[in-house]
Formats: sequence, structure tokens, C-alpha cells
Amino acid sequence: MIVRDATPADLPAVAAIYTHYVLRTTTTFNTQVRTPREWTERFEADVAAGPYHLLVAEVDGAVAGYTQTQSFRPKPAYDRSLELSIYVAPDGTGSGIGAALFGALLPRLEAEGRFHRAYSIIALPNDASIGFHERWDFVHRGTLTEAGYKFDRYLDVAYYERAL
Ligand SMILES: CC(C)(COP(=O)(O)OP(=O)(O)OC[C@H]1O[C@@H](n2cnc3c(N)ncnc32)[C@H](O)[C@@H]1OP(=O)(O)O)[C@@H](O)C(=O)NCCC(=O)NCCS
Repeated sequence: MIVRDATPADLPAVAAIYTHYVLRTTTTFNTQVRTPREWTERFEADVAAGPYHLLVAEVDGAVAGYTQTQSFRPKPAYDRSLELSIYVAPDGTGSGIGAALFGALLPRLEAEGRFHRAYSIIALPNDASIGFHERWDFVHRGTLTEAGYKFDRYLDVAYYERAL
């Protein structure tokens, strides 16, 4: 397995993974598939020009998962915090891909020193994501109840925080 910075050429594979979770799960609160143009614009603004990251894990030459950082909230006082997300292809979960991604990303964030706090916002239930984040020293800071609504039901969201 190789973990590396994504290039624009990876965006279709990254989008394919995310699209699965958008359309079939409540893992993400997005309900609409992002267009290729939106992926490119976000990549250019956040990663190519900005301080954020998009890392991919490649297994046998194919993108099998990715992790990205983005603005936590747009107001300037939040500029030293970021939001993380991580998605492993559905047929690849539980085989160390997520660990390889965070194993590359978190030390890099710590070494860069640009950000002070990382947040993951986990839609519940998601025992795998909770176990995974706790394994990487994220701490549960609170849960909003029924903040989301997708697939005809209300969903809680848990806020996990990690010092960088
Ligand atoms: C959550 C996710 C990123 C974890 O990545 P992964 O590649 O499946 O996890 P790994 O195999 O690298 O496991 C690393 C550690 O995470 C924890 N973990 C993984 N799966 C778990 C599960 N089902 N239950 C509890 N803990 C789990 C364990 O501590 C594991 O360490 P171990 O193998 O030594 O026990 C991945 O399962 C995924 O993409 N899930 C669907 C999308 C999603 O929920 N993304 C997160 C949105 S907040």
C-alpha cells in the first residue's frame, strides 16, 4: 500500500468512493453527488492553493481510500482548527487502509504546526469510525441530537477532537 498526496488525476476515484457513502449511507450528511467540476474547484481552492490536504491510499495501483482536511468553520478565529474526513472503499474497510492514511496525515499535521485542533464529526451510529478515531487519540467532546435528517430519519452527530 502506498499513501501519497492526491493529484487531480485521483479525483474521479476519490469521488467514486465518496459517492457510495453519499447515496447509500448516513455516514455523510451530503445527499447530492458532487460534480467533477465541484471536486476540481475544491481541490484547487483547498489543497493546491490552500493549507489543506488530500491523501490517497493506493492498493495494487488503485485508490482504495482517502483522507482530507478542510476548514472547520469559515470565521477567522477558527483558522487554527480543521475538519478531517476519511473514507475507505466499502470493500476495503477493516484492512488497515484507514490506519495507513491517518498514520501519514496526523504526523504531518503535527510537524507542520499550522493547525492546533482537528475535528471529526461522526454521524451516529458508526461504531467503526468511533473505534477508529479513539484509536488515534480523538476525544469525544459532545453529541448533537437529531441534528441531521437523511433517509427519513433524524441522526445524531458526535464531535471528536484531537490536539495537533
Ligand atoms: C472508519 C474507517 C475510516 C476506518 O478505516 P479502516 O481502514 O476500516 O480501519 P483500519 O482497518 O485501519 O482499523 C484501524 C483501527 O480502527 C479501529 N476500527 C476499525 N474498524 C473498527 C470497527 N468496525 N469497530 C471498532 N473499531 C474499529 C480499530 O482500533 C482498528 O485497529 P485494529 O485493527 O488494531 O483493531 C473506515 O472503516 C471507513 O471508511 N468506514 C466507512 C466511512 C466512514 O465511516 N468514514 C468516517 C466518517 S466520520
